[in-house]
Amino acid sequence: MSKNRLSQKASSFTESVIREMTRLAQKHGAVNLSQGFPDFAAPLSIKQAACDAILADINQYAVTWGAKPLREAIAADFTARHGVPVVPDEQITVCCGSTEAMMATMMAIVDPGDEVIVFEPYYENYGPDAILSGATPRFVRLREPGPGRPDWYYDSEELAAAFSNRTRAIIINTPNNPTGKIFRRSELEEIAALCRKWDAIAVTDEIYDHILYDGETHVAMASLEGMRERTVTINSVSKTFSVTGWRVGWTVAPADLTNGIRKVHDFLTVGAAAPLQAAAASALALPATYYADLAAGYSRRRDRLMGILESSGFVCYKPRGAYYIMTDISAFGFSDDVAFARYLVADVGVAAVPGSSFYRDPATGRTKLRFCFCKKDETLAAAEERLQKVRSSKLEVRS
Ligand SMILES: Cc1ncc(COP(=O)(O)O)c(C=O)c1O
Repeated sequence: MSKNRLSQKASSFTESVIREMTRLAQKHGAVNLSQGFPDFAAPLSIKQAACDAILADINQYAVTWGAKPLREAIAADFTARHGVPVVPDEQITVCCGSTEAMMATMMAIVDPGDEVIVFEPYYENYGPDAILSGATPRFVRLREPGPGRPDWYYDSEELAAAFSNRTRAIIINTPNNPTGKIFRRSELEEIAALCRKWDAIAVTDEIYDHILYDGETHVAMASLEGMRERTVTINSVSKTFSVTGWRVGWTVAPADLTNGIRKVHDFLTVGAAAPLQAAAASALALPATYYADLAAGYSRRRDRLMGILESSGFVCYKPRGAYYIMTDISAFGFSDDVAFARYLVADVGVAAVPGSSFYRDPATGRTKLRFCFCKKDETLAAAEERLQKVRSSKLEVRS
């Protein structure tokens, strides 16, 4: 068959590298430190709530923009944490994960040719999200930490130059995947001022907002002066409650934007799974100790994986939040990150994500590899044992 039967849009991006690595991990029986999903159990009480909801026959379509108890729980949580009043009937749309929330938002706010600013390295979905919604992405680089710069940072002039009257929105992901960067209040203020100046919308993916280390705190863009009326905040239960397979996420946005998001969402998916929305509402009622334990557990895992990787010869960029470690692999002598990732998964038995998949120009990420640590201790121990092999191969490369 010679004719390309795919649309230009579908042809213009590749399949997800992250999910491809998960498939390769399964094929080779490798320890999967690529895709960010926990391999440990979700909290018992919320699993019980999901079962109870099914048995109570909450099995039909929920209201398309989300079951009322869940929207009320999201609004109460948002207001309590960020001091921003939210009207559940007007400002919340429950979607199939934050993945759909981002896509529905982009399709609701972008016209073809509008520019959307994206910090890179970026969570890989933002690329196809831009293409499918017709947006023209404008990338602003996050630069690696270095002497005198302990955190990933952007150049203020480059950011300001990216804004114009073609800018419809900027996507911010804090805490950030893949870098672990937390955008500081001063950085968010700077972005907010540019949004106000250029009448742009801030779309903030805050899915890791409870996964913070070393006493860090999360600042919600919507809580900044003049931003609640121009911010779409995206979140989900996936990471906070270790239920990535539930596919329950949401947007919190001003009423006019919510109207558009709801329409797109309705025709895309109708709604997220009704019993899981009921269980998600119960998850949001967990006590504060749950979140403290979550962050403490991840902090321990972060330190453990950093130790393993560093002793195997990787240079690690220490994450401040989220559950990934970006590493520099230059010292291993491989020509490229994909070749190294394939060697790791097939010959060493550990799956990670090639850095190039987080950059518009793959060449920029060729010296990087991302590992996740949302895994059981025994999984990390298995990775440690296997990565011994890399340490010895590094010694061979050097000698
Ligand atoms: C930054 C970011 N946003 C969104 C998602 C997807 O979230 P969800 O499971 O809610 O669709 C991920 C998953 O890895 C992520 O890292």
